[in-house]
Amino acid sequence: MSEFFKKPEGTLSLQTIAMPADTNWSGDVFGGWIVSQMDLAGAIHAERFSKGRCATISINQMTFLVPVKVGDVISCYTKILKVGNTSIQIQIEVWDSHDESRQAKQVTEGIFTFVAVDVKGNKRQIPDEVKQKFLTA
Ligand SMILES: CC(C)(COP(=O)(O)OP(=O)(O)OC[C@H]1O[C@@H](n2cnc3c(N)ncnc32)[C@H](O)[C@@H]1OP(=O)(O)O)[C@@H](O)C(=O)NCCC(=O)NCCS
Repeated sequence: MSEFFKKPEGTLSLQTIAMPADTNWSGDVFGGWIVSQMDLAGAIHAERFSKGRCATISINQMTFLVPVKVGDVISCYTKILKVGNTSIQIQIEVWDSHDESRQAKQVTEGIFTFVAVDVKGNKRQIPDEVKQKFLTA
């Protein structure tokens, strides 16, 4: 399918605006800031899904497709791909919409894995009922 027709996939879990403090010396937003927003978006989805605290255990390879500028609105869309005993694999897409007049562009995407943890930070089982709901959806 042509890139022109690609649309965000998943749930809008986080939306924010790139600020001057998030930029490097060239005026573009740091890649690390974008990864940080993705981590937050994934954690929001993972924690809502697993009904408790989660920790990031891995992030797969990512490619940055277009630069992000100050004032751009960044939207992170999340979609659960796989649910294990304690882990949740989430696809996270980042889209940039400068303003209403321009079509949103995809900035990057990545697959993040979160592990459900208890208050002490030890891994915990994903509740059976939410796992079943995901498997039968
Ligand atoms: C999260 C943590 C408690 C897990 O404990 P652990 O004993 O290492 O857990 P395990 O090796 O049994 O793995 C737990 C789950 O993660 C999965 N997993 C482990 N390593 C993985 C990797 N590199 N990629 C994807 N999944 C991975 C396992 O398959 C397992 O999934 P399952 O239970 O659904 O089958 C521990 O690794 C930890 O505290 N890590 C630091 C987390 C953190 O601080 N993150 C923020 C960044 S600093």
